[in-house]
Amino acid sequence: MPKAVVLGAAGGIGQPLSLLLKANPLVTELSLFDIVNTPGVAADLSHINTQSKIEGFLPPDDGLKKALTGADIVVIPAGVPRKPGMTRDDLFKINAGIVRDLATGIALTSPKAFVLVISNPVNSTVPIVAEVLKQHSVFDPKRLFGVTTLDVVRASTFVAEKLGDPSLAPSVSVPVIGGHSGVTIVPLFSQSSHPLPANFAASDLEALTTRVQFGGDEVVKAKDGAGSATLSMAYAGAEFAAKILRAINGETGIAVPTYVNLTSDPSGGEALKKELGRELEYFSSIVELGSSGVSKILPLGKITEFEKKLIDAALPELATNIDKGVSFTTPSK
Ligand code: NAD
Ligand code: LMR
Repeated sequence: MPKAVVLGAAGGIGQPLSLLLKANPLVTELSLFDIVNTPGVAADLSHINTQSKIEGFLPPDDGLKKALTGADIVVIPAGVPRKPGMTRDDLFKINAGIVRDLATGIALTSPKAFVLVISNPVNSTVPIVAEVLKQHSVFDPKRLFGVTTLDVVRASTFVAEKLGDPSLAPSVSVPVIGGHSGVTIVPLFSQSSHPLPANFAASDLEALTTRVQFGGDEVVKAKDGAGSATLSMAYAGAEFAAKILRAINGETGIAVPTYVNLTSDPSGGEALKKELGRELEYFSSIVELGSSGVSKILPLGKITEFEKKLIDAALPELATNIDKGVSFTTPSK
């Protein structure tokens, strides 16, 4: 049954992500929307012998509306990527408007769809989508997700490297919480499924944490002006989308870190807010999924003093990023 839609499908992330969704047996229909090239990308992918029917749409003739009609899950990697020297927040000027317009299309055409936001700055673009949906009275916090899976993927890869056994990478699981930019990215290595070596020094832990927090910069630097992570992001985005599709399909017990509005939790995220020691509208934490979206936000549990300091350093920047997204769509008085 699920129809998946990719908005920004002709881009560096959009194309490989569309490929991976075309290969997912849970997707029965796939619509690609972008301002360029989607007919070609769709024609290419349409020759793959998986079950899903695929179509590409461009803005003329109501392309966005046609792409979104009947959507169950919408993934948004539309927008500009970073160049060396830029922060994710520097992308706000261009990407905020792109995301707002796409969210308006979702509100009008597929208000019940699960929306997965990849476009940066995620800490602010997710609140933008929420505010647009609220303005159209169709906001369901349980169905809106900021995709932070790349941070989780990086953390498990780097831990496996430190353990000296890359073959462990797929089974290493490290909760990464907070947000998706620099110091707002907080890996909880103390909760890793595979503990770091007993002789791991404090300075090594600091370096590993910084590597996860600034993993995106590592790729931006290596690409040297040609963009940011695309292939690893497509992989991570497809992994996250696959979990959402499995939950829609009725599978229970799936828990995954993702950036959500805390009102998506039945108790408004009270337990988490108590742990954080402050009010906050959005936070990435481990979320239990159900067929209607977020079924519960799990508390952080036991963390170390070092991790508590990282969270304290993340919260002010996260709050500023959230306010920026919320006020972008608030009509000025
Ligand atoms: P890209 O420039 O290669 O592709 C972006 C695509 O968006 C282009 O094809 C462009 O035509 C399209 N687009 C622009 N405006 C549009 C609109 N109004 N409607 C539909 N499509 C539109 O960029 P990319 O490397 O694919 O990155 C896309 C975004 O994803 C960036 O903002 C980047 O920072 C972000 N990103 C996020 C994560 C994450 O972990 N959440 C990881 C990597 C990149
Ligand atoms: C990433 O983490 O790779 C993305 O957010 C892209 C970026 O700008 O670093």
